[in-house]
Amino acid sequence: MKSNKVVLSAKNISITFGALKAVTDFNLEIKENELVGLIGPNGAGKTTVFNIITGVYSPTSGEYYFNGEPVTKTPTYKLVKKGLARTFQNIRLFKYMSVLDNVLVANNFNMKYGILSGIFRFPNYWREEKEAKAKAMELLKIFDLDQYADTAAGNLPYGKQRKLEIARAMATNPKLLLLDEPAAGMNPTETEELMNTIRLIRDKFNIAILLIEHDMKLVLGICERLVVLDHGTTIAAGDPIEVINTPAVVTAYLGQEEE
Ligand SMILES: Nc1ncnc2c1ncn2[C@@H]1O[C@H](COP(=O)(O)OP(=O)(O)O)[C@@H](O)[C@H]1O
Ligand SMILES: [Mg+2]
Repeated sequence: MKSNKVVLSAKNISITFGALKAVTDFNLEIKENELVGLIGPNGAGKTTVFNIITGVYSPTSGEYYFNGEPVTKTPTYKLVKKGLARTFQNIRLFKYMSVLDNVLVANNFNMKYGILSGIFRFPNYWREEKEAKAKAMELLKIFDLDQYADTAAGNLPYGKQRKLEIARAMATNPKLLLLDEPAAGMNPTETEELMNTIRLIRDKFNIAILLIEHDMKLVLGICERLVVLDHGTTIAAGDPIEVINTPAVVTAYLGQEEE
């Protein structure tokens, strides 16, 4: 059943870089458990929206709220603690670290032991360490990556690295997960698998997901709603099939090669 709880609300967000209006008057509301797609041609401002929502960039104007709380210009690490997680357009894994350690690093955000307890290895340190490891393994299992726990992340096939990034993002217990082109560079089999994984985690963890993606099969396969950006402006929003048939959207995509 759908909840009416609004997880993210962005109001009239704009940002300029010098003379460039990268995003203009962006509005979005995402409810608990919703899966929304953010699409648009290259350079439309999609990643910039993620960077604003995650506190990487400060908007020139506008506000956004997370679980009803105003969080405009809140630093990234605080937003992570509040339940915001993301993956990046270009994979950002610790290549030489094991698959398990990549997930554990993210988990550390949520551990309660302080520096002293870490240095002196108090009992609560070991307990939390053990719990974190068990939880990380559980996550890896969900992503079908548990058999690679000890493998260096950089040695995984590309599609599995992308999945590991999502697993790592999930380790911080997010309420909203932002995925920036998770299927980029994947083959059709990997994309299909990814589609199932995204659905699975949304349902299993009851989280909201905002997905930037060029692969239309993936977008139309899982998104319940789409928002289309072009030159920083929202040119369409709503039902996926209706949206992609909107003349403005068709025009925006004309001449744009699929990547
Ligand atoms: N830090 C920045 N400084 C200057 N221009 C930027 C910066 N970040 C993004 N841009 C510009 O903003 C526009 C939108 O970029 P981006 O959000 O990455 O697009 P998309 O993710 O939709 O492909 C582009 O023209 C890009 O060059
Ligand atoms: Mg981008």
